[in-house]
Amino acid sequence: MEAVTPEALLAALRLQIDWGADEALDAAPLDRTRPAGRPESADAAAAAPFPDATSPGARPPRPALVTPRRAAIAAPPAASRAAALAAAADSLPALREAMARFDGSPLRETATNLVFADGAPESGLMLIGEAPGGDEDRQGRPFVGVSGQLLDRMLASIGLRREAGGFYITNILPFRPPGNRTPTDAEITLFLPFVLRHIALARPRHLVLLGGVAAKSLLRSREGITRLRGRWHEVTAEDGQAWPALATLHPAYLLRTPSAKREAWRDLLLLQRRLAS
Ligand code: URA
Repeated sequence: MEAVTPEALLAALRLQIDWGADEALDAAPLDRTRPAGRPESADAAAAAPFPDATSPGARPPRPALVTPRRAAIAAPPAASRAAALAAAADSLPALREAMARFDGSPLRETATNLVFADGAPESGLMLIGEAPGGDEDRQGRPFVGVSGQLLDRMLASIGLRREAGGFYITNILPFRPPGNRTPTDAEITLFLPFVLRHIALARPRHLVLLGGVAAKSLLRSREGITRLRGRWHEVTAEDGQAWPALATLHPAYLLRTPSAKREAWRDLLLLQRRLAS
């Protein structure tokens, strides 16, 4: 068999990264260099880096398998826990804390940081995007990557500056989906109670829904963003509270489709007129 060199392993790793893999999702390492059919123990014994001095070549004992004890009372499902935690939060810091504690989503395991919100809740204007990307995940702040920078420039063109307290901004998901994939319906549904509580606690006068995920989930609509955008709608909570919401295109879409900036500009003017009235 050809020897597997550290250089070959590095090259294989680099290839995975070039193909877009950016997360290691298995908790336990898997020896992919082991020839098919060869038992793990034979290779592990041969390759053990620090053989026991008293028994040459012996591998360290395996940790005993622990059978988890059956819980006396089953934990409520993640969705019920999310709803209860959200309802119990009575301030924005309490909500942030509750979301950081919530362990009902695997996204929490692969994300680096919780991305809660940024800007000024007291501005009365709350923008809601989809989910953090890589830059947001690293910094723990929403919309700080290239699409966030475009969004900041667009909003500044109608006099709304994040650093001057012009708006408040968050996402439907507080954790980055691995590889920046689109959030699943199950993930959106799971985090929706937190988003609705977030809106209730921030008490905005106006909402802006950035892109299809935010617009469709908060407006409970099946229509695409190109149909929903450019109009004021209402986001309603289960207790009957309602907030006027403008749906518009996501800045990441505008980066991919610069010709759509014309529609986004119209939406911005609609927002500016509403804020001035
Ligand atoms: N896209 C989003 O929807 N949210 C972010 O925070 C960044 C990019």
